[in-house]
Amino acid sequence: MDWNSLETECLNCRGCDLAETRTHVVFGVGNPEAEVLFVGEGPGEQEDLTGEPFVGRGGKLLDDMLSIIDLDRKKNIYIANIVKCRPPQNRDPLREEQDACIGYLYSQIDLISPKIIVCLGRIAAMRLIRDDFKITREHGQWFRTGDTWMMAMFHPAAILRDPRRRPEAFIDLKVLESKIREICERTYP
Ligand code: URA
Repeated sequence: MDWNSLETECLNCRGCDLAETRTHVVFGVGNPEAEVLFVGEGPGEQEDLTGEPFVGRGGKLLDDMLSIIDLDRKKNIYIANIVKCRPPQNRDPLREEQDACIGYLYSQIDLISPKIIVCLGRIAAMRLIRDDFKITREHGQWFRTGDTWMMAMFHPAAILRDPRRRPEAFIDLKVLESKIREICERTYP
């Protein structure tokens, strides 16, 4: 399936109950040719209203963090989520909601074929890296599956809640930048 057909199918999805309460499906944003893919958990209120991932305060922090290492959602990365519709009251997405939705993310990963996947927060890391992933212990570490390198960073909302995480988040960004310089050809011109 090509990118546009996948997006159209996803925007019309009624595969789980989240379809009943959503305003917009949040498919993703960025460059589908990027070498680096970021994956969050699921849309919040602002994302549901606008149809774009990571807008609002957490999104501003994410953009600021990305700019430290010359990454830009409009240019050299792609940003998607585990679930594409907002869970009510921003609760964690249920396992069955993730199961109903994850095929879209797998198709996005197939089409983008990223060299690096960065999980934003615990939920994405537990789904993509290991189901007993411990974000406080394992953030910033690399996990390789086939040709893809994966790591997890703190979710921007978690950094906003606890600013003491900022120094570690900064180190994780630098670790990511080094890996990009080592294995990516197009991310930094
Ligand atoms: N949090 C996420 O995990 N994803 C978004 O798109 C917005 C907030």
